[in-house]
Amino acid sequence: MDMISIIEDKKQGKALTREQIGAFVKGAADGSIPAYQLSALLMAIRLNGMDARETADLTMAMASSGDMLSPKVDGVPVDKHSTGGVGDTTTLVLAPLVAACGGKVLKMSGRGLGHTGGTIDKLESIPGMKVELPEEEFVSIVRRIGCAVVGQSAQLAPADKTLYALRDVTATVDSIPLIVSSILSKKFAAGAKAIVLDVKTGSGALMPTLEKSVELARAMVDIGAHAGRSIVAVVSGMEEPLGSHVGNALEVKEAIDILSGRTGGPLKRVSLFLGSQMLLASGLADTEEKARQMLEQALDSGAGLQKLKEMIAAQGGDARVCDDVSLLPKAPVIYSLKARRDGYLSGVNGTALGLAAQAMGAGRKSKEDQIDPAVGFVMEKRIGDFVKAGDTLFTLHAATLDSARETEERVLSALSFSDTPAPKARLLYALVRPEGVTELAE
Ligand code: URA
Ligand code: CA
Repeated sequence: MDMISIIEDKKQGKALTREQIGAFVKGAADGSIPAYQLSALLMAIRLNGMDARETADLTMAMASSGDMLSPKVDGVPVDKHSTGGVGDTTTLVLAPLVAACGGKVLKMSGRGLGHTGGTIDKLESIPGMKVELPEEEFVSIVRRIGCAVVGQSAQLAPADKTLYALRDVTATVDSIPLIVSSILSKKFAAGAKAIVLDVKTGSGALMPTLEKSVELARAMVDIGAHAGRSIVAVVSGMEEPLGSHVGNALEVKEAIDILSGRTGGPLKRVSLFLGSQMLLASGLADTEEKARQMLEQALDSGAGLQKLKEMIAAQGGDARVCDDVSLLPKAPVIYSLKARRDGYLSGVNGTALGLAAQAMGAGRKSKEDQIDPAVGFVMEKRIGDFVKAGDTLFTLHAATLDSARETEERVLSALSFSDTPAPKARLLYALVRPEGVTELAE
């Protein structure tokens, strides 16, 4: 097929045929189409869009550009995916909780890049934990325990690898059909039949406005209907980090604290909401109220924490961390960052905080960087809280005193204060299902 005519058609705003889409996806996966032609086509798609049929064809073509797993588990394989936040550890809370309620959670996750952390890096902070497992072993753990979280293999949706790398450097990330096909092709290839999406909105999110975020969520839910998968999407806010802990071992600690019933807050609230959607999508509960009761029961009885222990042990890790979080890696310098004035904490630049954690060593600047599992920080105050000069705003866990001092300045410049009361950050905006959009008020 002639690549120039495919670019020409999209340049003219025409809908591409399934054959045209199949041809360029194949060429992206096998390297036979040069990057300049793929880049031109990506920009034409970014500018002229794709309709629902084209987006579905693109998603399916990308999914089948590599291995297609069809894990045999008893029940509906369920997955959840977040479009990326700071301090977002919902997977580590949800996978064991949903498994404790009878769910089969097959989770393939990424590593952190840029300002957001990756679940796989967080898990690797647990001594001994293995995240690269062969498919048979991964599926056998899910069969036995109900959940496993592993890194995504290179054989999954290879066309996305090529296209995503080009989008990153051609200003074509913010295209709804390209985002939808990129995210869902990987989920479909991994064999998920029920998928709960957490679409972030706000500054630092893929889509900056609420309207665009809802549009993205709807487009993903629509593809589910085309592809015979059950997809729901939650649109959630990212005005401040979701959890209070940012950093790899620190985020594992927060997940364990939630599963042990020691702590609550926004991370727990959003996790329970997403978890109830996972139980509904798997057919394990028929009302939201029932789903929530099941999750709360799994929390209160300790069944969720027990599942996390089983999962860690099955993946070679030291499950004793669940009873004794001091076995997780610890930073040598613990530093209290104090408020320099009285006032209400009124705003947090989440992207800047994510970058501050990255600069401490919690994230990578390039793919080859080593991360330090112990470093990061704990937010002791949330948006809307009143603080007095001298109160501890953040506790920094740093590798050196110099790093702590540098982080102090970065963190302070990411915060805003006001003299008048500031509203709390909104967590949940909308639930998008095939039957429509429900506004959420929390
Ligand atoms: N995450 C992805 O995997 N793909 C996108 O296009 C955007 C976010
Ligand atoms: Ca995440």
